[in-house]
Amino acid sequence: MLNKGTAAALLEKAAVFIRSSYPELGKGPEETEHRISEITSSIVKTGTYCHTAEELAFGAKAAWRNSSRCIGRLFWDSLAVRDARQLETAAEVAEAIFEHISTATNGGKIKPTITIFRQALEGREIRIWNHQLIRYAGYETEEDGIVGDPASLELTDAALRLGWKGAGTPFDVLPLILQIDGQEPEWFPLPEELVLEVPLSHPDNPAFDRLGLRWYGVPFIADMALEIGGLRYTAAPFNGWYMETEIGARNLADQGRYNKLPEVADAFGLDRSSPATLWKDRALVELNVAVLHSFKRHGVSIVDHHTAAQQFVRFEEREAAEGREVNGRWTWLIPPMSPAATPIWDRPYQEREVSPNYVYQERPYGPGRGSGEGEAAAESGAGAGARVEAGAGASGRIEGMASISASHPGEGEARPPMQGCPFHS
Ligand code: ARG
Repeated sequence: MLNKGTAAALLEKAAVFIRSSYPELGKGPEETEHRISEITSSIVKTGTYCHTAEELAFGAKAAWRNSSRCIGRLFWDSLAVRDARQLETAAEVAEAIFEHISTATNGGKIKPTITIFRQALEGREIRIWNHQLIRYAGYETEEDGIVGDPASLELTDAALRLGWKGAGTPFDVLPLILQIDGQEPEWFPLPEELVLEVPLSHPDNPAFDRLGLRWYGVPFIADMALEIGGLRYTAAPFNGWYMETEIGARNLADQGRYNKLPEVADAFGLDRSSPATLWKDRALVELNVAVLHSFKRHGVSIVDHHTAAQQFVRFEEREAAEGREVNGRWTWLIPPMSPAATPIWDRPYQEREVSPNYVYQERPYGPGRGSGEGEAAAESGAGAGARVEAGAGASGRIEGMASISASHPGEGEARPPMQGCPFHS
């Protein structure tokens, strides 16, 4: 049970959340105060409280709206929220994640979606070890140096230790690794048919196609916690769709990632004898052209950085019209290609710590374990990078997980019941 100070702090955060969100949800002062007193009794009685489905959905959307590093926030209100708080076992969580991948991928017409598993309680939390639900493994080899994605070395190592076997190609999809309440992690191979991938080709250079580059279609961030009203959802994977520079100017281009610019330059016969020929810049443009071309050809949603920047300006205008301040971090909002050619370049942004939000959490495995921003910081490199969310276009409804919950209402466990939470009663 929480001590008094912690309980007071939780209540304070809960009240701030309810007071700011209820007006937006069209609820009056009476309903607002009633809800706060309900939460107060729950915290007094049980040490915690539970969000209604409506609060949860709004909290997840508002957290996206508040994400200072995300250029794709125009579509925050269309996020599809899947309430999976009743699930308990790793197998149930895995199944819900597979369903998320499938409905959000939607055959290529990507729907921004989040699946929210139960909130953390003292000593109990669900964790997804993967940085993204779909990501490529990276292996340190004697003969060829690093094969695959260097950003995945540690997770790949963890997967191998758990008994997973990778094929050893540069594009092996890692298994899903889940850990429930500090127990032994369990791993699940992703069903192949769920993983949409795009082989990269260039509209007018066949030599590029022979490089054999590819990327997966949907970025599903899986290791951030969703914080709403003082509650932490430590497993709440979400996806938008890609902005092309994430793949073409970072994942495949960074020297610390796939480092493909020299090969791309050679496929175009560029002169690499001096940096002053600007071969890197020309290769970057061609690689990004290829990413956009290939995603379009395969019917997979993607946005270019110029369009995304325009959409972000529209987001800013809409927020201003609603009387809200936009939370922004310029170093992440500008795209890593031609940033000064976008309107974001010369606008001022202010970053504040605001809630609800998506936050980094300690990595539960490997050498970086416990280092908080570890992987995320490494990945964002010089300030640009793993931008959260460029997505849009869904309906924003709560999708029940009834089929799964019905078969597993958390039966028969020796765990203490989570009091005061409707999804656990
Ligand atoms: N930058 C990350 C990647 O390249 C993905 C971050 C989320 N991006 C998004 N468009 N929602 O894999």
